[in-house]
Amino acid sequence: MTKTPITIARGDGIGPEIMDATLKILEAGGAQLSYEEIEVGEKVYARTGSVGIEPSSWESLHRTKVLLKGPIFTPMGGGYKSVNVTIRKGMSLYANVRPCQSFAPYIDGLHDKMDMVIVRENEEDLYAGIEHRLTQEVTQALKLISRPGSERIVRYAFEYARQNGRKKVTCMVKDNIMKIADGLFYQVFQEIGELYPDIQKDRMIIDIGAARIASRPQDFDVIVTENLYGDIVSDIAAEVAGSVGLGISANIGEDGAMFEAMHGTAPDIAGKGLANPSGVLLAAVMMLVHIGQGKAATRVHNAWLKTIEDGIHTGDIFRDGTSKTRVGTDDFCKAVIERMGQNPTHLKTVSYPDGGGQLKIPALRTIAPVKKEWVGADIYIENVWEKAEMIAARFNEGWTGSVKLALMSNRGVKIWPDGQPNTKTTDLWRLRFKGAMNAQDFLNLQAHMVAKGLTPVKYDALYTYDGAEGFTAAAG
Ligand code: NAI
Repeated sequence: MTKTPITIARGDGIGPEIMDATLKILEAGGAQLSYEEIEVGEKVYARTGSVGIEPSSWESLHRTKVLLKGPIFTPMGGGYKSVNVTIRKGMSLYANVRPCQSFAPYIDGLHDKMDMVIVRENEEDLYAGIEHRLTQEVTQALKLISRPGSERIVRYAFEYARQNGRKKVTCMVKDNIMKIADGLFYQVFQEIGELYPDIQKDRMIIDIGAARIASRPQDFDVIVTENLYGDIVSDIAAEVAGSVGLGISANIGEDGAMFEAMHGTAPDIAGKGLANPSGVLLAAVMMLVHIGQGKAATRVHNAWLKTIEDGIHTGDIFRDGTSKTRVGTDDFCKAVIERMGQNPTHLKTVSYPDGGGQLKIPALRTIAPVKKEWVGADIYIENVWEKAEMIAARFNEGWTGSVKLALMSNRGVKIWPDGQPNTKTTDLWRLRFKGAMNAQDFLNLQAHMVAKGLTPVKYDALYTYDGAEGFTAAAG
């Protein structure tokens, strides 16, 4: 069998120790790999000043398209870009897949029966990092949810479920509040879900969903959700499962993938030979499946399960009464290698098909073009002292355009007309204009506002799409 080239980054802190152990176990399991090693993290930040990865490393990533990565130290404070985020974006890794499983009664966790996979959208949402300070008092972060982005991740979740013998996909959103953005994500979930009649579908509002992951994790199978919600619920799930040292994270794109442990560099135990290598090892098992080496993945995973079952545990998961032998990184590694070829007796044996390779995801659907009409604008101004009636009077004086000032709101609460007298306001005011308009009308409107001393700090055009409003009604 020819060796598959992969890129490895040992990372910082405990990274080199756990990566060493992992590579030894992979070799003993018969994985056919050749390594290109790159340096990322602390030392690279020191050399470059702000970026934790160098151009030559990108060449390797684009060549091998597979990265097995140890944890990386991200310097605190402004100016430093997280390497993890840089790599995710640079390789367009849109799906973050995080399996969370309990290994009761061998590892103490909060729940005995838990075997869920969280599929988190990885490129959109608030992580686009588009933020502004709009006024003295008000800041904003843009939450971007797109149809192709949602479709890609929802497809991934359903294909993952189908190709891994899973039965149910639960979509977690907050579409009762974010009716347009989260509403789109859920709508896409419903549309794509119809193409998978063999898979059960469920929807939960993210807040109760997160609570249920903590209280009844056994009810979940595959969860698909947006970027921020996924970030939060996958940490809850890992915590519930037992140990931060066991959590794994695969980042998958159409043309590349990165596999890593969920935990960080554990500076408190770095260099002491105490770290649990299981996170990186189980991430490497997912990597082997991804590159079509299912046989080696099966051997390594079963040997690991047998080691856990035999009570040979590193300090982070060692519990008196449950565990038998407390070991450091090296002895844990040896114990797994000794068990190569064995299966667990009580925990479920795993079996991955050889040659399967990367999950096949159908192409995105083409969506028929819709009729888009420009029907108004929301224009924001900074205002600290003027009452709504005065702003309205000032705007209307001398305004001859066809669009009309329809409403003013503050933090989404209607102030004018007919607002409540006790509503607390900030210095960011939204003026909503309604009426058919074009680009020239829009410029005229802004010119008039500037002439009246109502200088815009931000604006959003209002459109209908096939007659349906592409903006929320004014709250109040
Ligand atoms: P951490 O995960 O490094 O440590 C939290 C606690 O868990 C510590 O007590 C640590 O000893 C323990 N722990 C973590 N992994 C373990 C393992 N494999 N075996 C045994 N015990 C383990 O989180 P922390 O302290 O918040 O972050 C430290 C650094 O790691 C920071 O610089 C952070 O930016 C970075 N980090 C990097 C990540 C990545 O590269 N994917 C993810 C999370 C944090």
